[in-house]
Amino acid sequence: MATDQQNRQAKSRHDYQPPAFLIPTIDLHFELDSAATIVSSVMQLRRQTAGAALKLDGQHLKLLQVLIDNKQLSDAQYDLSGESLTIPDVPDAFELKIVTQIAPVENTALEGLYMAGNSYCTQCEAEGFRRISYFLDRPDVLSEYRVTIKAAAASYPYLLSNGNKIAEHITADGSRIVQWHDPFPKPCYLFALVAGDYDLLEDNFITASGREVALQLFVDKGQAHRGDFALQALKRAMRWDEQRFNLEYDLDIYMVVATDFFNMGAMENKGLNVFNSKYVLAETATATDRDYFNIESIIGHEYFHNWTGNRVTCQDWFQLSLKEGLTVFRDQEFSADMGSATLCRIDAVKLIRTAQFAEDASPMAHPIRPESVLEMNNFYTVTVYDKGAEVIRMLQTILGKEGFAQGMALYLKRHDGQAATCDDFIRAMQDANRYDLSQFALWYSQSGTTQLTASQQYDAATQVLTLTLGQSTAATADQSVKKALLIPVRIELLLSGNEKQSHLLLLTEYDQVFSFNNISNEPVVVWLEHFSAPVKLQQQSSDDALLHIAAFATDGVARWDAIQQFWSRKVAEVIAGKNAQHVLPPKLFQMMQSWLRDPGDDKALIAELLSLPDFETLAEQYEQIPVDGILSALEQFRQIIADRLQSDFVSCYQQVPVSAYQYDEASVGNRRLRALCLGYIAFQHNSQQLLQAHYHQADNMSDTIAALMASQQAQTDTFKALLADFSQRWNSDVLVMDKAFGLAATQPSEQVFTSIEEMQSHPLFSWKNPNRVRALFSAFSMRNPRQFHSADGKGYQLLQYAVAKMDAINPQVAARLITPLLSWRRYDESRQQAMRNVLQVLADSSSLSNDVFEKVSRSLS
Ligand code: ARG
Ligand code: ZN
Repeated sequence: MATDQQNRQAKSRHDYQPPAFLIPTIDLHFELDSAATIVSSVMQLRRQTAGAALKLDGQHLKLLQVLIDNKQLSDAQYDLSGESLTIPDVPDAFELKIVTQIAPVENTALEGLYMAGNSYCTQCEAEGFRRISYFLDRPDVLSEYRVTIKAAAASYPYLLSNGNKIAEHITADGSRIVQWHDPFPKPCYLFALVAGDYDLLEDNFITASGREVALQLFVDKGQAHRGDFALQALKRAMRWDEQRFNLEYDLDIYMVVATDFFNMGAMENKGLNVFNSKYVLAETATATDRDYFNIESIIGHEYFHNWTGNRVTCQDWFQLSLKEGLTVFRDQEFSADMGSATLCRIDAVKLIRTAQFAEDASPMAHPIRPESVLEMNNFYTVTVYDKGAEVIRMLQTILGKEGFAQGMALYLKRHDGQAATCDDFIRAMQDANRYDLSQFALWYSQSGTTQLTASQQYDAATQVLTLTLGQSTAATADQSVKKALLIPVRIELLLSGNEKQSHLLLLTEYDQVFSFNNISNEPVVVWLEHFSAPVKLQQQSSDDALLHIAAFATDGVARWDAIQQFWSRKVAEVIAGKNAQHVLPPKLFQMMQSWLRDPGDDKALIAELLSLPDFETLAEQYEQIPVDGILSALEQFRQIIADRLQSDFVSCYQQVPVSAYQYDEASVGNRRLRALCLGYIAFQHNSQQLLQAHYHQADNMSDTIAALMASQQAQTDTFKALLADFSQRWNSDVLVMDKAFGLAATQPSEQVFTSIEEMQSHPLFSWKNPNRVRALFSAFSMRNPRQFHSADGKGYQLLQYAVAKMDAINPQVAARLITPLLSWRRYDESRQQAMRNVLQVLADSSSLSNDVFEKVSRSLS
């Protein structure tokens, strides 16, 4: 590592101390100015710890004044070293006034108060409030906020903050002054301020108890027609939380602001959500089915945080999964109820099997409740969020839907208005159900992916079926010893004559045997039905049994899973040199053919059943990832399927009904299956016309993208022409151009390097906008395995260039970009060398952010 003057001190979960002072009220006053905003903060403080000095967090602040009980402090009375303001000698209860100056226009990190184009916007989670004013910037200090905002009235018609608006007026000199009051005490990470000129969409919602809530959605000028879907989704989410968990909204107004400058998806600030515009704005011509799905689920997610996150928040940031895992679980349940539950689950499983398993196997491995953190922003991870959601889902599987709901009710009743811990949550679930969850709680402290082994034995004479389960978890970068977890394993027994049985097995030991009597014939066992636990399954079942499950299991997820396992096995055989001819059983083709000929009602599921696993899923099944082997086996199998079922793909494509665009389950399924067929058809030489027709006849973005992707993956000449047309047509629409950037960056050919170069000089590309950078570079590094892992190391160098450039602008985004490089140890010798070289170049740079430093140093150590 380069010499390092900064103090980089990781924090440990076990070092938690309650705050030395509380701040029950805060009165904030903003005079907005892009280069010199003045922030006055008047707080009431109360001592909790005798003798302690007051130490407030602050970053990039210019301190103008400090007053205690209206008396200004001299420089000698406080200390401003490091990133804090320390006042050694303060009374037990007092008023503290602090005046600071900040420069939003210089804030390219997009944390704290920053400019989003001409608007002002904030992002305070996790530790952004300290860039606004000196404060106890930690989630267990809850305050009642009053906020006054002043800005030029003409340019800033809307000055927003949390809670209820209590006053608004325009001064003689043309300033607008607006005052807000949020009656619910909250940690500062939930504070928000927005100022700008927007199009406003309004609606209202009547809660179950009959209160009227005003709904307001603020979008960039000219975008109003793209806001309606999000607003309707919000109402569906509000109703759903009432019906499923008995939870009502609590303020009289709920505001959502969409901005194109945002580090993440969205933020649940109390009463004033801020969203990445990509997760709000949608119309048929610009948004895919996937976009609509994401909008509904993220609108739901942020709304559900109002209870799980805001009313009950986190004691410290190590507890992040308390609100995030739980809220992801809630949004998944919501999405499942709004559309295809099977497809939702398949998407969630894919994410765990790719990014989460990869994280567990990486130098950044951590439990869903991390133990040690240098930069908190690095822990907004698939482990905390999505494995966290799986842990909650397992609780529901074990306790039942009803028991789980009772646990939730007790948790919220006990901790409303508090900053709680994961242990508090477990305790509430345990108490409400009188169920001992002490072993289950290990899921919070243990990292890594557990391997589950499963086998069966049948004794025809006694009619006893014996199932044997085993678990083991390999050491991870952060933890060497692993205990046995409580793992809920749902199974289905497929007996002859269409007889089926369902069971829930609770595995608590390393090895355990389960016996079933009166089983009249040897069944095919569906293991881990519906992915009942986030583990890797090793099963003995034959190829035949897997295909049988794919055809007959009750659960659509299990059917998809079986065929995925089947393909993984085929790919592994080819890589091991055991099937050089890529031979596949006739039964497979018969089954695929029957699906194509008679897809039935669930066409989206059929499309999934006909898909090969993606590279990332397969990669996670190997300790050393055979990049070229996986890619080439996939390519071969894809071509074989495309050739063998050519006419079936064409006739299915023609038979699936096409109607004017609507976003509903059936139409989504139709489009998905047609796109799947098109994807295979594209591998035939004579497919150009069909691809062009699909593109030109599309009345919606899903079909447009389907044509582009099919022609891109099959490396047809058509692709270049279609992408040029697409980029031309949408060259002034940022959100759609992001799709063009993504398509350019995921071309499987070497052409990708030139295209990425060209796209960087596109008028809409900007290094200061995370959406643009992610569209180009995350797409390349995470969804273009062939070129990212290009044997000459060019892909790695390109990513290093992007990370270095981005780290100086926006460390949080830079640290996310770097992820695929961290696992360099899992590749072959020459790739290892090439990846390590670029990591070393980054490590040697003198000015790394904590964000990137934490990851690079863990990876190289
Ligand atoms: N709480 C937000 C959400 O889950 C995400 C905030 C991310 N913040 C961050 N600093 N990484 O919806
Ligand atoms: Zn969240």
